[in-house]
Amino acid sequence: MCGIIGYIGERDVISVLIQGLKRVEYRGYDSAGIALFGPGGLLIKKDKGKVAHLEESVNGQQIESSAGIGHTRWATHGEPNAVNAHPHTDDKNFIVLAHNGIIENYMALREELRQSGHEFTTETDTETVAHLIAEVYDGDLLEAVRRALKLVQGTYGLVVMCADKPDEIVAARLSSPLIIGHGDGENFVASDLAAFVQFTRNVTYMEDGEVALITKNKIVHKTLADKVVPKKIEKISFDIEHIEKGGYSHFMLKEITEQPRTIGDSMRGRLLSEEGTVRLGGMREKEEQFLGAKRAVFVACGTSWHAALVGEYLFEEMAGLPVEVEYASEFRYRSPVLDDKTIVFAISQSGETTDTLAAIQEAKRRVDTVFGICNVVGSSIARTTDAGVYLHAGPEIGVASTKAFTSQIVVLAMLALNLGRHRQISAAEGHRFIKELREIPRKVGTILSQSEKIEEIARQYKDHRNFLYLGRGVNFPVALEGALKLKEISYIHAEGYPAAEMKHGPIALIDDEMPVVFIAIQDGTYEKVLSNIAEVRARRGHVIAIATEGDKDIAKCVDHVFYVPETHPMLSPLLTVIPLQLLAYHVAVMRGCNVDMPRNLAKSVTVE
Ligand code: AGP
Ligand code: GLU
Repeated sequence: MCGIIGYIGERDVISVLIQGLKRVEYRGYDSAGIALFGPGGLLIKKDKGKVAHLEESVNGQQIESSAGIGHTRWATHGEPNAVNAHPHTDDKNFIVLAHNGIIENYMALREELRQSGHEFTTETDTETVAHLIAEVYDGDLLEAVRRALKLVQGTYGLVVMCADKPDEIVAARLSSPLIIGHGDGENFVASDLAAFVQFTRNVTYMEDGEVALITKNKIVHKTLADKVVPKKIEKISFDIEHIEKGGYSHFMLKEITEQPRTIGDSMRGRLLSEEGTVRLGGMREKEEQFLGAKRAVFVACGTSWHAALVGEYLFEEMAGLPVEVEYASEFRYRSPVLDDKTIVFAISQSGETTDTLAAIQEAKRRVDTVFGICNVVGSSIARTTDAGVYLHAGPEIGVASTKAFTSQIVVLAMLALNLGRHRQISAAEGHRFIKELREIPRKVGTILSQSEKIEEIARQYKDHRNFLYLGRGVNFPVALEGALKLKEISYIHAEGYPAAEMKHGPIALIDDEMPVVFIAIQDGTYEKVLSNIAEVRARRGHVIAIATEGDKDIAKCVDHVFYVPETHPMLSPLLTVIPLQLLAYHVAVMRGCNVDMPRNLAKSVTVE
């Protein structure tokens, strides 16, 4: 889950590393460190806390250096403190490395190494690998890394340097992304494009089971079995402004506010109004499988899993296709019953979530087509699925996912429409749906322009310790998502439920301390939701309702109401989720929480 950067070249190494780490810090941020070759040999600086803290401690230091590596950590083994921060070395300070992932057999390896005289100083799994490489080193760093990794079980993105080789960095990848940036007389390696995109746009992607030798003027890609892998350099288009805050106080607020544009970008060039359908390149590649499909299985985690639940309603309602939504982490350890008439969809913002990647591997053993819905172009999931659709929402940096969620729903709605048109929807209906879809960005804009109303509600409830979120039908997943947003960034306990489930248990929690957020738009379940609201009010709970514009009556039976414009009922989550994102955001800011980097979380979860 961490961020990794490595650089070799003529620039000021410290500043390249620090700048790079700041760009990937959203991936993990409990501690940070760098290692470089100084005049007196290997030099390591690391500390608990943010990159800014590390930056202060190296500030103004002019150290001549030929190469360096850096890391921001999301601890899995050992407390987040200065000792456990990466980079790690062996006990002779000979090998130094930074690692993303988990070394599963580290205890056994550590024991063996101890017996042959190695002394360990950290609690991390990672340190073992430094000792192991030092143990097998025989003058060739790439070879030593290759040999050591054969003994390692687990996952890794690794960058390694060695006191003997000031002009080499060796990288290795297994289930954790690494991208190499090719410059002129300089080269980069990082867990994320953003780390070096200001210096070069020419990249090669490392694949699982590969190692690479990186020098100033040359890069050699090999497999762990020592076969040279020819690679094509790809040129990436990436707008640097997209990874800057652009005047907003937080990335999360910027990303919430961007949604009219990002939702529009997800549909751009894909809607065919006349025909009442959509054109999606990835779908065309697998047309036969889509047309013959009898079932769909969605695998995802977190917010992407909530989007998948919305997708379930969309697919079933519009295309009459049965859908099952699975937590990727559960799917991989079950014996899912799949056949060649089932399409598995993997949904992920980052395209790097380990649980989702593992579910894809499992699915690939059992079905013909695994279809990816990803935001990050060139990500592992985008590259391992058989075909797919990109969200085109632009980089999402805030750890709490917002704009990716709405774009995932747009993509799922387009897929449902296309399938529906083949199966049961008329061109006229398709045309009406597209018309509504085109209106969504403007409607999201009107919701955003009333952010201060939500801010006012947030002020009244910011000190409450529990929240309940309730919704029905396609807005039940929105209730789950609203609760997740609040939990993640404000640390207030929140639960999402289908509104009617409340009476089967959660109603016991209702008293005058409990705010309940209802999604109560005027769709087929409106009357029933009003009854659920009455049940909460009868127990003195506070009700905050998200309602349809023009619904005057609801104001009489709730404490607060926030109106969203009317739309096609199946598209309503695109509107109802916006006030819930804003509510979580404002509450978290008022509580003084670190909105973009909430405690214990990381942007892409690359461990199991
Ligand atoms: C969302 O706010 C979360 N931080 C998290 O649940 C996230 O959605 C989940 O880890 C899945 O990530 P992905 O979409 O990148 O696969
Ligand atoms: N498992 C390693 C550790 O706990 C790496 C964690 C990470 O990916 O940041 O240090």
